[in-house]
Amino acid sequence: MIDLLRKRRSIRRYRPDRIEKKSIALLIEALLRAPTSRDIQPCEFILIDSPELLDKLSTAKEHGSEFLAGAALGIVICADGTKSDVWVEDCSIASILVQMVSQSLGLGSCWIQIRNRDHISGLTSEEYIQKALGIPAHIKVEAIVSIGHPAEKRKPVLKATLKPEKIWHNGYTEPYIASSPAKKGRGL
Ligand SMILES: Cc1cc2nc3c(=O)[nH]c(=O)nc-3n(C[C@H](O)[C@H](O)[C@H](O)COP(=O)(O)O)c2cc1C
Repeated sequence: MIDLLRKRRSIRRYRPDRIEKKSIALLIEALLRAPTSRDIQPCEFILIDSPELLDKLSTAKEHGSEFLAGAALGIVICADGTKSDVWVEDCSIASILVQMVSQSLGLGSCWIQIRNRDHISGLTSEEYIQKALGIPAHIKVEAIVSIGHPAEKRKPVLKATLKPEKIWHNGYTEPYIASSPAKKGRGL
């Protein structure tokens, strides 16, 4: 897992090849295995592989969704907002898990934020997608995860660029990372 995390980058350019059925089955399993608060399982997922629909959804917001048109698959990450007050967290976990499993299968993926975003028409991005896909209003749309065979290579983030100062120790006053030789060995 740490190796997958070290190499993971958002991939926004895809080859046109379809995703194998076996891989799709594993992506679905990842979505359904995602943990949810109190095991309420409020999330629902819409798999989109129709090029016309991918095209339509790629305009769900003004910036940052256009590459969905070139993906083999888009997974619309939704949840029944009436079932859980933490559906956002539940959806986020499912989204990142399906991204990690995509990577483990050699696929590239990117999160497309939908919640709290706007469509150019004056609708919210969520409303635009609800309308396009026939999703009722109580089913909230958090994100779309675009997936495909990567057509770009991105360098892993170097460990040296991580920000260890974001890690604190036993409160918010003592950084976890050793700055003095006496504390050596406690850092990343
Ligand atoms: C909550 C969230 C929302 C994001 N929304 C978008 C988006 O709408 N469009 C996009 O191209 N990338 C989006 N991303 C991807 C981030 O831009 C990307 O993860 C970040 O720049 C770090 O790059 P990396 O994933 O390659 O390490 C989103 C990521 C997260 C976690």
